[in-house]
Amino acid sequence: MAEIGTDILKAKALLEKGELVAIPTETVYGLAGNALNTSAVTKIFTAKDRPQFDPLIVHVPDLDHAKNYVEDIPDKAIALAKKFWPGPLTLLLNRKPIIPDLVTSGLPTVGIRCPDHALTRGLLKSLSFPLSAPSANPFGYISPTRPEHVNEQLGNKISYILDGGVCTVGIESTIVGFENDQVVILRMGGLSVEAIESVVGKVSVQIHSSSNPKAPGQLKNHYAPTKKVVLGNLPDLIKQHGSHAGVLAFQTDYKQPHQFVLSPAGKLEEAAQHLFSALRTLDKLPVEIILAELVPEIGLGRAINDRLRRAAAE
Ligand code: TXA
Ligand code: MG
Repeated sequence: MAEIGTDILKAKALLEKGELVAIPTETVYGLAGNALNTSAVTKIFTAKDRPQFDPLIVHVPDLDHAKNYVEDIPDKAIALAKKFWPGPLTLLLNRKPIIPDLVTSGLPTVGIRCPDHALTRGLLKSLSFPLSAPSANPFGYISPTRPEHVNEQLGNKISYILDGGVCTVGIESTIVGFENDQVVILRMGGLSVEAIESVVGKVSVQIHSSSNPKAPGQLKNHYAPTKKVVLGNLPDLIKQHGSHAGVLAFQTDYKQPHQFVLSPAGKLEEAAQHLFSALRTLDKLPVEIILAELVPEIGLGRAINDRLRRAAAE
């Protein structure tokens, strides 16, 4: 098992040696390595069992640092970064040659973001390189929102997990690309479409083109627990499957023995924060199937529903 602690200097020393460290962010825990060191980046793909055609996000402490790694930044990207960084927003921007091919899977753009977590920003500011960090889970599984989640699955592959507590947003960053002057959302995430549109006007959303995805996070069956997930009207599904099922409810207490209510108050932010943890918990219970319901399709609800649909995809 990996050591869990809050020692930034230890994390820094490991990263400077080309080793991996799990880092907290406001969205989910990341599996971080020196983005400019191809041997460290290779370790990330190996530890996650992730195909190398799936590019990594690069993490920086602020917009000024981002400018060392990307060029031709569109005005709308600058406006979004100024408004929402640090925060759950990844921008796809033209990379400078210093970013290795391996990080972007050969694409001309790199996903770059500034995470909103004091410990990790402190770490990033202390380093002379940016950090590549995908979510710290085996490829295809649910992202971790607590240090213990990382330890359960990757604890034998890394030596240190920086403990930043429970992730406050709980769902991955929103990924935004720029085509001509158009803003395109490629992954729904912790920053709502409404918030983005309040800064740049109408955006287009391209998240269900699953055959040749621009972002493999678009793959239909992703973010998935081991158990089968069925989405629908919960009272009906419960009648059909009886008490042997795990139940993931948004707001209503259905009085089931293996049940998790995401937000009794009906708050989407709270539901997002609990979603992955709830799926993990249900996945470990002695149930054969997980029954779930969609949440209102507004604000963070769109990202929550996106993850639920992917978890339920065959
Ligand atoms: O919140 C987050 O974004 C977390 C934390 C750790 O920062 N990271 C994360 O990384 O979710 P990951 O690797 O699990 O998901 C990143 C997604 C992948 O689906 C990848 O395909 C897409 O971003 N991506 C990365 N770079 C890209 C690029 N240049 N063009 C298109 N998609 C890209
Ligand atoms: Mg991931």
